[in-house]
Amino acid sequence: MPGASLQNQLEEIASAAAAIATAPAARLAELKVELLGRKAGRLTEVLRGLPALDPAERREVGARANQIKQDIETAIERRERQLAQEAVRAVTMDGTMPARAVWRGALHPVTQVIDEICEIFREIGFTRITGPEVETEEYNFTKLNIPLDHPAADAHDTFYLSPGVLLRTHTSPMQARTMERYPPPIRVLVPGLAYRRDPFDPSHSPAFEQIEGLAVDEGISFVDFKAAIDFFVKRFFAPDTAVRFRPSYFPFVEPGAEVDIQCQVCKGSGCSTCKRTGFLEIMGAGMVHPAVFERCDLDSERYTGYAFGMGPARIAMLRYGIPDMRLLFQGDMRFLGQFVE
Ligand code: DAH
Repeated sequence: MPGASLQNQLEEIASAAAAIATAPAARLAELKVELLGRKAGRLTEVLRGLPALDPAERREVGARANQIKQDIETAIERRERQLAQEAVRAVTMDGTMPARAVWRGALHPVTQVIDEICEIFREIGFTRITGPEVETEEYNFTKLNIPLDHPAADAHDTFYLSPGVLLRTHTSPMQARTMERYPPPIRVLVPGLAYRRDPFDPSHSPAFEQIEGLAVDEGISFVDFKAAIDFFVKRFFAPDTAVRFRPSYFPFVEPGAEVDIQCQVCKGSGCSTCKRTGFLEIMGAGMVHPAVFERCDLDSERYTGYAFGMGPARIAMLRYGIPDMRLLFQGDMRFLGQFVE
């Protein structure tokens, strides 16, 4: 019976149409032609067979054919709309989304202080150099006129790596290395890490930055030293900052001194930061000891010079009012973010 065969064809078409719901764009276009095409579409084929049926069957099959046609058209429309939305979503952005935070790298506050100090000394002829953190006893102590049994060697509480080899306890060994390697006139600044068996507390760290300064030439006097330091302090802190030179002792200088600056917190009137003295110590210094020259094969009758050593972490703390040295080592972005320029 031709009616039954057309019915079967219709149900096959209906199940083939299920693919529309998930068809990609290209397949959807094919399905459209395959199912509804006017010339050879499967549904068109069925409709063409209708006139051969008797009226009752024709009505029944015709009604089913129309329903399937409508279902297919609806499904195609829906799928086309879906595909269009997907295409739009793929190329447009969501303007309401918060922007991604931009992270800018920055130099650590102590590095910034070191760079600034080196810049200031560069203006008066100092070259920036670096030296080894692993040193020998000879350079760290002996050449600097510190006998190994001297309390100064103990006080440094040294990290030894092997007998006679250690982590430098200060940057001063670079004084000897520089004098041995370069003939005067010498003007160098040596930033770098030094190490001591100190506890990690608000004012100590077992690893810390130092900056060593050394100037050697014929006829250098303590006045040259005072002038250089005065120039530095007034540039780095404020032009009206008072500077004080106090006698002190270091085995590698004679005379030795400590340099104080007017307290940055109370401006000299006395507060807890400066322990009521009105001054803060910023470096050890002095005139290079003749014994150090001799150990480095320089004629101490001909040459004189000054040397100084300072702690840029301490200087950063004084300048920015940082209460605890450990903040400088913890990498906490809430702290470091304040020093982004
Ligand atoms: N090296 C000394 C220290 O770490 C600091 C120092 C003092 C360096 C006097 C010098 C100097 O160059 O002349 O404690």
